[in-house]
Amino acid sequence: MPDQVFQTYGIHRWGAGMFAPLENGDLGIVNPARPDAPAISLRELLNNLDARGVQTPVLVRVGAFLRRQLESLNDAFAQAIAANGYQAPYRGVFPIKVNQQAEVIDRIVDYGRPYTFGLEAGSKPELILALSRDLPKDALLICNGIKDAEFIRLGILARKAGINCVLVIESPAEADTVIAEAKRLGEKPALGVRIKLTRRVSGNWADSSGDRSTFGLTTKEVVDLIDKLRNEDMLDCLVLQHSHLGSQVPQMLDIRQAVDEACRFYTELRRLGVPLTYLDLGGGLGIDYTGEARASDNSVNYTLEEYCANIVETVKYQMDEAGVPHPTLVTESGRAIVAYSSMLLSDILEASYFDRSAPITPEEDDHHMLSDMAAIVGYLSPRRMQECLNDAEYYREELRALFRRGVIGIEEVARAEQIFLYVVGRIKDLVAQTPDVPQEVLEELSAHRDIYRANFSLFQSLPDVWAIDQLVPIAPLQRLNEVPTRRAVLSDITCDSDGKIDQFVLGDGIGNALPVHELRPNERYFIGIFLVGAYQETLGDLHNLFGDTNVVTVDFNEDGVLELQHEVEGDTVAEVMAYVEYEPKQCLDAFKRIVERGVRNGTLNPSQRRMLMETYRHAINGYTYYEHEEHTHG
Ligand SMILES: Cc1ncc(COP(=O)(O)O)c(C=O)c1O
Repeated sequence: MPDQVFQTYGIHRWGAGMFAPLENGDLGIVNPARPDAPAISLRELLNNLDARGVQTPVLVRVGAFLRRQLESLNDAFAQAIAANGYQAPYRGVFPIKVNQQAEVIDRIVDYGRPYTFGLEAGSKPELILALSRDLPKDALLICNGIKDAEFIRLGILARKAGINCVLVIESPAEADTVIAEAKRLGEKPALGVRIKLTRRVSGNWADSSGDRSTFGLTTKEVVDLIDKLRNEDMLDCLVLQHSHLGSQVPQMLDIRQAVDEACRFYTELRRLGVPLTYLDLGGGLGIDYTGEARASDNSVNYTLEEYCANIVETVKYQMDEAGVPHPTLVTESGRAIVAYSSMLLSDILEASYFDRSAPITPEEDDHHMLSDMAAIVGYLSPRRMQECLNDAEYYREELRALFRRGVIGIEEVARAEQIFLYVVGRIKDLVAQTPDVPQEVLEELSAHRDIYRANFSLFQSLPDVWAIDQLVPIAPLQRLNEVPTRRAVLSDITCDSDGKIDQFVLGDGIGNALPVHELRPNERYFIGIFLVGAYQETLGDLHNLFGDTNVVTVDFNEDGVLELQHEVEGDTVAEVMAYVEYEPKQCLDAFKRIVERGVRNGTLNPSQRRMLMETYRHAINGYTYYEHEEHTHG
């Protein structure tokens, strides 16, 4: 049974072997170093965190998942290089913008050390943090993005400190600043050139590719740059060629053709005497968020191994054809390294059920349409489902109109709503047992999905789900040994109708409702939102002033036990107030004056005043999310 329910959520497809169901129905995470050992329950992890005072929503990072992805990427390139007799190494870099958190960057630098893995900085702040990370000698520090003179100075002088910093020229104007700074300092920089590939790719980030992409030099500008550098006696500085197709490229064919084009540029530049040694192919390596293994916005039609093998084969073929030495291969894969390692765990605060199981009988004086509606279940059959839905909706609308016109009272319309929900419940039951239900019936019923309200903010924690309809897998963390009988959409706790998720990754494709279990009294129902390690953490905003969530990093120790290694408390109310320029102390004082007025007017007694001020003060220092009461006074 746990296996079957586990598959309902498609975890066997998108989970990449990192998750497993436990006998007791909990969802567990698997230690990549000991895949056969029992998985560790995420629900128990949450209970442990809760006992320490770390509440949901909590972002959990699993160090071992990060390590596994980073090692897989490097190992897959190493294997492809060995298998093809490729004559140069792979030297990947992690683009900091994909996840800038120190806990993540430090682990990447640490796990990447044996592979001489480097970093990519796309801005001055990112460069400043990258320079302080003590990268291994020879590991690349690639500087992309628009650079001012100070950024360029840092990049040039950092080489003198033994840091393999390469400044990628993004525009003709930037080349002039680089040349001027290099002359002023009397130092030769290591330079790259970002070329604009003409091939456009499919997917969400198609605009990063092709003629209209905002970054990079056109063919003419590249040729001019070479002349300019030659004239300045700086052509020997140009060692790297960079191109970037966009993130999450769904099609292997697109990647391969873009690599082909990049190779043409590379071999031509070599022919013109440019001493290139690095071929940087940017990002693009996608993640299969849906587990469907197909070329769509949230899936990919290739594996990590295939990606690496295709690149190595294509570059080798092109270089051999042109008689050019094999370049050191560089990719800037961020998403593929970090997406798996973070998950947002939270709980459902309440459910609105849009049907009812207990029948309800109209009262004697009720309008006849209530009995007409109740009678629908008498003729409900698989063939007449659509008709029954039409009838129920018709009666409900008519009765609501009668209420608006003052013909029937509030109790009567309340009973009518209950009868409607009962009829819808019976139709849903029948749909669940009927094969090949007409699409229209399913679509109409989707208006009657339950709403499960979860303790998180979409805008803070899953901005891409809101902004670009990114799909992320979601599953309950318990009761996988029990068939989920409800179908719900998830709503967050912001009071914004956009704060909801209504597209779900399931075992048989994408669905518009998440199978969930009926909530039980006094039992918390936890859910996990997975594969959220890339881009989400710093894109989030403070909509409704929900701040950063609590974050913990966990890892398996040598005995395979999951250990809490790092904890960052989420924002307090006072902190988010300060972001939007309120002074918490002033708010407290101002509120105190208002409260005092209430005491003077006699509407508040002194002990109520005290309780009100204590609660205000406590709340201002507390978590911005829904707090379960046992934690709010402690
Ligand atoms: C220049 C550059 N390199 C690398 C990346 C990261 O790519 P990915 O999301 O495929 O890891 C990006 C992101 O779009 C980028 O702009």
